[in-house]
Amino acid sequence: MRIDIVTGLPEIFKGPLDESMIKRAQENGSVTLSIHTLRDYTHDRHKTIDDTPYGGGAGMVLKPEPIFECIESLKRKRRYDEIIFVTPDGEQYTQTIATQLSLKENIIILCGHYKGIDERVREALVTKELSIGDYVLTSGELAAAVIIDSVVRLLPGTLHDSTSAMSDSFQDNLLGAPEYTRPPVYRSMKVPDVLLTGNHKAIDAWRQEQRMKRTAERRPDLLKKIT
Ligand code: ADE
Repeated sequence: MRIDIVTGLPEIFKGPLDESMIKRAQENGSVTLSIHTLRDYTHDRHKTIDDTPYGGGAGMVLKPEPIFECIESLKRKRRYDEIIFVTPDGEQYTQTIATQLSLKENIIILCGHYKGIDERVREALVTKELSIGDYVLTSGELAAAVIIDSVVRLLPGTLHDSTSAMSDSFQDNLLGAPEYTRPPVYRSMKVPDVLLTGNHKAIDAWRQEQRMKRTAERRPDLLKKIT
């Protein structure tokens, strides 16, 4: 899979995308991440990527020209399955969308920031708008990093154990079961006996029961989605 990130703040991605699992996924070829800086698509001396909004008001709006030029140059090189704009007024991002995106070949993620982005970009270029939650970040870059992390970990060859992704919270609309590791007793807190039995059938049944219980307690809304 290839993900092209179009951004005014490329530095934000240095940390999150260069660590651990995402780094491994890039090294083993599961994903190619390419960051495109909007300033590289400007033509003025100050490399201006934003301007004041027509009609007045606070904040700055990302200009259309650098975004059009950047995305058009990408589209000349390959076909994109989706051009995603991350924005608080987009569709709510979920594990189901993460799974769908993990099956795509080429996607672009466009990050807005400051006050917003010229609407003509959304109308003419963007095919999908996603929000990572009902709160406002200062820029779309962190939202894009969240989406990339959750998609890349689903790609074959990224996790050590592919069954691990299958048992994730939300993958089947149930939260995950409690997990334990050694030691079996720590400060008089015991690991549940069933996990020490080696009886995989009993362990699976216990985990499923715990998942149902946890989901009912914490996220009863998810149980309604189970068919
Ligand atoms: N940009 C700013 N806030 C955001 C959010 N909650 N989701 C996606 N993009 C955003």
